[in-house]
Amino acid sequence: MRVMKYFVQCSVREHLRTMFRAAAALSLLPLAFSLLAAGQAPPALKDAFKDSFLIGAALNPAEFTESDARDAAIVKAQFDSISPENVLKWESVHPEPGRYDFDLPDKYVAFGEKNHMFIVGHTLVWHHQTPKWVFEDAKGNPVDRETLLKRMREHIQAVVGRYKGRVHGWDVVNEALEDDGTLRQTPWLKIIGEEYIAKAFEFAHEADPKAELNYNEFSLENEAKRNGAIELIRKLRAQGVPVTGVGLQGHYKIDWPSVDQLDAAIAAFAKLGVKVMITELDVDVLPPAMQYRGADISANVELQPKLNPYTSGLPDSVQQTLANRYSDLFGVFHKHHGVLTRVTFWGVTDASSWLNNWPVRGRTSYPLLFDRDGRPKPAFYSVIKAAREASAAK
Ligand code: XIL
Repeated sequence: MRVMKYFVQCSVREHLRTMFRAAAALSLLPLAFSLLAAGQAPPALKDAFKDSFLIGAALNPAEFTESDARDAAIVKAQFDSISPENVLKWESVHPEPGRYDFDLPDKYVAFGEKNHMFIVGHTLVWHHQTPKWVFEDAKGNPVDRETLLKRMREHIQAVVGRYKGRVHGWDVVNEALEDDGTLRQTPWLKIIGEEYIAKAFEFAHEADPKAELNYNEFSLENEAKRNGAIELIRKLRAQGVPVTGVGLQGHYKIDWPSVDQLDAAIAAFAKLGVKVMITELDVDVLPPAMQYRGADISANVELQPKLNPYTSGLPDSVQQTLANRYSDLFGVFHKHHGVLTRVTFWGVTDASSWLNNWPVRGRTSYPLLFDRDGRPKPAFYSVIKAAREASAAK
């Protein structure tokens, strides 16, 4: 019923055109015809992968409060896990000393519970989107180690404790590594020392002993950073620190990472005995704005027309390249089902993706499976096809 509702909101002719274009390109005509016969509702990602892994999406407030009814319907129909795009970051949930703002996080968690979803918390300890006051005293000087540890513990107890048993998995530490695999020089590291990572996990475990506790990072598909992360996780586990899993953010490009790099990264983390998940998946099809290929949110490049070539739609050839890319990625994900427990997209439709504003503000980006009007793209059908082929091969 809900699936129908958002579908009815799309123009039927437009939808049919997209569906047939996708189907023709991907030899999915039988699937498209059977959908038509069944009343045009697209299949659900969460059903297609139900024997493999959870399928999630990061949500903004309009989506989880359902003021954006169209996106909310897509989320309910398609996904069985959710992540909060911004509302549980320190600057949002704890903007001033002693002041927490749980209004939106409460609504986020309620939406997930109402829809029986696996609810993710993102993120407890990060150097971005954390107010300056966290690291400073009243005079603006850096606080000492004990004070910062105390603040970290108090924050984690308040946030994780509030949602004990309700938020099922936390990104406890986000992006603690440099590209070369060494520890990133953040205020956390400079003030507390490398023990800050272990402490964050211990505090989270103390606040909710049953929650899944993950280390989340980008570019782990590159060897140097991957090795740094393996060393970090191995050390933490050897010390008895409760790390359940590693999140590969998955901010991918058309040509990076290679299927082999991705395969090797998942296999390497699996060997450590931790769960692996893809936590922020999207595939950028726009021209690279800079040489740097990581996902550091501080990158900021000026808008130029040549960096924004698809303002009036994505050419079929690029649409097709994206569909093939998604099919290859899901081929690798599926190969690791069992170890890979969740694949979460960073956004619901192309319209709400952060890649419209990063690393260049104001571009028209196409990184997800649903287009700006909420319609499934050819990439959506190629992912469904990958799922069907994988379960037929089982
Ligand atoms: C992004 C959000 O999507 C944006 O809305 C916000 O302005 C900046 O952060 N890695 C992460 C996410 O772990 O939290 C980031 O989310 C994207 C990169």
